[in-house]
Amino acid sequence: MPDPEVRSVLTPARQGNVGPSAGAGNDRDGAERLYFRQLLAGRDFARDDPLAAQMVNFVYLVGDRLMGEAVIVDPAYAVDELVDLLAADDMACVGAVATHYHPDHVGGEMMGHGIQGITRLLARLPVPVHVQVDEVPWVIRSTGVGTGDLQTHRSGDVVAVGEVALTLVHTPGHTPGSQCVLVGGKLLSGDTLFLEGCGRTDLPGGDAGALYTTLTSRLASVPDTTVLYPGHQYSAAPSATMGATRATNFVFSLGSPEQWASVFGR
Ligand SMILES: [Fe+2]
Repeated sequence: MPDPEVRSVLTPARQGNVGPSAGAGNDRDGAERLYFRQLLAGRDFARDDPLAAQMVNFVYLVGDRLMGEAVIVDPAYAVDELVDLLAADDMACVGAVATHYHPDHVGGEMMGHGIQGITRLLARLPVPVHVQVDEVPWVIRSTGVGTGDLQTHRSGDVVAVGEVALTLVHTPGHTPGSQCVLVGGKLLSGDTLFLEGCGRTDLPGGDAGALYTTLTSRLASVPDTTVLYPGHQYSAAPSATMGATRATNFVFSLGSPEQWASVFGR
């Protein structure tokens, strides 16, 4: 059964944290307004960073083309390049969305390397960083930012970027406060779901049972036509519809919590 909370998530206009101009308009207007870029770390930016190339993170720039405002989803490597890329498109960075606390998504120490992340973004621009409430202590620990630097959210909250509405969906499992972003028929999934497989649950805060519920219940209401944009390029294709993903990704063939637990543990 779809999670009742997600049914409400899919009607963003009724949710909290909706700015005064959060209505996305009709589909045609929305498509014209939506500014959306998928950038691969180590290829499209941070080209001189071997860790970025190794980790193959995707970063997303999402905003309102007409208003010239955008947020960066998961700024980690070469943050100034991301802000400059936006500026080159005549877009101002008005915030960031953190899908989860891991340093390759928000910055911090990883494998002996320092990753700039939201700390660098906040040093350059005083913008809000949108985080699920359950992820706040983890993000603070990873990055060293203060509580006041983070704008906390609950599932279903909508972040208005100009007149483009980003709906934040709490998707625990990979981490306690992982979140996905629904915008313009796209699902930005962080490390919750990839085209093949899903995020690991053996890192601190991971919960295999919670990820099972996330994938089979909480995200069950996301339409097959919605396009999945993951947090890493772990497949040849950079994106796929949810329908195709549900048909081909083995995690959706594990039809019971018991089957899931036999593969992923508890
Ligand atoms: Fe992760």
